[in-house]
Amino acid sequence: MTAELIDGKAIAAKLRETIAGAVGLMKTDNDVQPTLVVVLVGEDPASQVYVRNKGIATEKAGMRSIEHRLPEDAGEVQVIELVRRLNADDEVDGILVQLPLPDHIDSSRVINEIDPIKDVDGLTEVNAGRLILGKEGLVPCTPQGSIIMAKTVRESLSGLHAVVVGRSILVGKPLAMLLLNENCTVTMAHSRTKNLASVCRSADILCAAVGRPRMIEGGWLKEGATVIDVGINRIEENGKKRLVGDVDFEAAKLRAGAITPVPGGVGPMTIACLLRNTVIAAARRRGLAVPAI
Ligand code: GUN
Repeated sequence: MTAELIDGKAIAAKLRETIAGAVGLMKTDNDVQPTLVVVLVGEDPASQVYVRNKGIATEKAGMRSIEHRLPEDAGEVQVIELVRRLNADDEVDGILVQLPLPDHIDSSRVINEIDPIKDVDGLTEVNAGRLILGKEGLVPCTPQGSIIMAKTVRESLSGLHAVVVGRSILVGKPLAMLLLNENCTVTMAHSRTKNLASVCRSADILCAAVGRPRMIEGGWLKEGATVIDVGINRIEENGKKRLVGDVDFEAAKLRAGAITPVPGGVGPMTIACLLRNTVIAAARRRGLAVPAI
């Protein structure tokens, strides 16, 4: 048996279409065009690609996209001053500071300067706290995208055993909280977990977010499991560069019930969820009904 493919590209395209519809309504009904500002410090090539793609997707969804670029040697105070200006700017609905920031800048201090209502990455301490408390906030994009994908193949996640491998702030921890909010029984596994293979084998939903190419073997999966592979690892194989996930896809698809590919899985969902958060932030901040997206 071969697993069903969870097609992130298709799911993200549909979500972006729904978002564009909601943006269109905000414009015609309320004369509001949501605005997303992305702050990029330095010249990191991967970050430049991400930021450009975010800008294109934002405009394609009918929203306004603004990019602020600061030089690699910009000081922490300079970045914080920019964030404060954006907080105070009534035209700005969403602020995203692209990570990683240069080493001389304390990322946490910068991120926590973002007004939580404009924190479309969901990374401020306020939004992280709201997620844990089950209160309304903005949720990190990659974990949110992972949940949306899992729900396309499982009618309900309630009562299922979800194993999250990886405990990062950006993905592992918020994803575990979202799964808990879906009434999953959640296990968080990480580099110190003993008998990782047997922990994984007990998962109805296995989420891999460790950043290690093909670390999760096919034989570690429960038959019929839903596999969400968050890893995007650049490797060189037989002289060719390619992207692979944290799961050994070829082996896993013979045991899993459904699996996300890499590329074309969780990746496209991240930007779609960023657009979604921008619309939600714009609606809440302006006192409008939040569209069902
Ligand atoms: N760099 C890589 N992923 C992300 C993300 O989700 N948000 C931000 N701000 N930077 C990133």
